[in-house]
Amino acid sequence: MRGRFITFEGIDGAGKSTHLDWFADALRARGATVLRTREPGGSPLAERLRALLLSEAMSITTEILLMFAARQDHLDTVVGPALARGDWVLCDRFTDSTFAYQGAGRGAGSEHIAMLERWVQAGLQPDRTYLFDLPPEEAARRRAGARAPDRFEQEDLDFFGRVRAGYALRVQQDPARFVTIDARQDIAAIRAVLQGSIDTLWA
Ligand code: TMP
Repeated sequence: MRGRFITFEGIDGAGKSTHLDWFADALRARGATVLRTREPGGSPLAERLRALLLSEAMSITTEILLMFAARQDHLDTVVGPALARGDWVLCDRFTDSTFAYQGAGRGAGSEHIAMLERWVQAGLQPDRTYLFDLPPEEAARRRAGARAPDRFEQEDLDFFGRVRAGYALRVQQDPARFVTIDARQDIAAIRAVLQGSIDTLWA
C-alpha cells in the first residue's frame, strides 16, 4: 500500500513546524516509518533552489517556475520513493503554499499554478492537509525577533492577509482534505485536535 502523504500549511509564524515535530513523534510512537521533509527544499537540488528563492529578487513567473522545479525534484527523488515504500511523508508546505503565496499573496492568480500542479504532481495530492490559521497581525507579533526574516517574511500585513484568504479558498475547493486549526489556541488544545485526527488517519 502506498504510504500517506500529509502536508502542513499556514502563514509564517503560525507555529506549524513545532506541531509537525510532535506529529512525527506521535506517529513513530505507533510504529510508523516517518519521513519529515519540507518545501521548497527536501532534496539536495531543491534545497539549492530554496536558497535562491528565499534570497534573490526575481519575477513572479520565475518564482513560480522555480518552486515547481524544486517540487518536481523533491517528488522524484524523495517523496515518491518514500510513498512507494509505504512510509508516512510529512511535508512542511506543499502546493497550497504556491496558490496562497504566489497566487493570492503576489496576485499571480491560479490558472498557471493549477496547470503546473497537474503536470508536476500527475494526480498526486496530499491525503490530508493541516492548515494552521492565524490572523496576520498575531503571526507578525510571533515572528518579531525570532530570526532574520527571509524574502517572504519581509512582506507586509496586507500580503499575509491575501495569503490567508488564498488558503481559505483552497479549503473551500477541497474541504475533505483539510483540517483547519485555529493556531491562537494553546499547544495542548492543538495537540488534542491533532491526536484525534491521527486516530482517524490510522483507522
Ligand atoms: P518556511 O519558512 O515555512 O520553510 O517556508 C519558506 C517560505 O517559502 C515561506 O515564507 C513560504 C514560501 N513558499 C512560497 O512562497 N511558495 C511555496 O510554494 C512554498 C512551498 C513556500
